[in-house]
Amino acid sequence: MAKLERLDKVLANMGYGSRKDVKSFIKAGLVSVNGKIILDNSFKVDPNNDMIQFKDGVVNYRKYVYLMMNKPQGLVSSTDDPFSRTVIDLLPEEYLIYKPFPAGRLDKDTEGLLLLTNDGQLAHQLLSPKKGVDKTYYVEVEGYVDESYIVAFKEGVVLDDGYKCLPAQLEIIQPDLISKVYLTIQEGKFHQVKRMFQSFDMRVVYLKRISMGPLKLDESLASGEFRELTEEELSLLKS
Ligand code: URA
Repeated sequence: MAKLERLDKVLANMGYGSRKDVKSFIKAGLVSVNGKIILDNSFKVDPNNDMIQFKDGVVNYRKYVYLMMNKPQGLVSSTDDPFSRTVIDLLPEEYLIYKPFPAGRLDKDTEGLLLLTNDGQLAHQLLSPKKGVDKTYYVEVEGYVDESYIVAFKEGVVLDDGYKCLPAQLEIIQPDLISKVYLTIQEGKFHQVKRMFQSFDMRVVYLKRISMGPLKLDESLASGEFRELTEEELSLLKS
């Protein structure tokens, strides 16, 4: 069944002004619903189906916003932080009105794929350990990563606190003094990738998330850039 919401609330949520502003716009006859001017603030609308017009322009109501960001180093992935700039600081006002938050954290020095949304249900689906969504990282790590590590990661790496990780898939791109690998994990423990390598006395020197479930980082996004998910990406994520 359609969820009805107060007209003044819908307009205020859309950024047409404060609740007080939009009440005065409604009283002034500037707002119509399905072609009829509405003077009652508390009038209930189905924001997804009713046609709401403000000063003759159609109000494109959206409840959710889904943004893919190529997170740069140096920003924290939370909505606010007393000491550091956050990924939210990169977003313009037109997106801030939806109050997006990062679905899952990346460390301050980690780059790459970050989903920003206000859809709590989708975020939960992606992050819940029970759902086992794959997260793939490109990793540069000090030390020679040979084939034997593939087995070790598959068997479950034990972290410094004794936690045994779920099986992880390691793909070696280039073994060297600083090795380049892809690592796919299904969990999201604090500093997990770094700690997994630490358990072999290896230090991660560069970390970038390149995919999350079916969502792949759009390589055309420069560091710090973002874009909305395409319809296709969204339906893949939700399926
Ligand atoms: N693992 C880490 O160690 N850091 C991240 O940012 C993500 C995964």
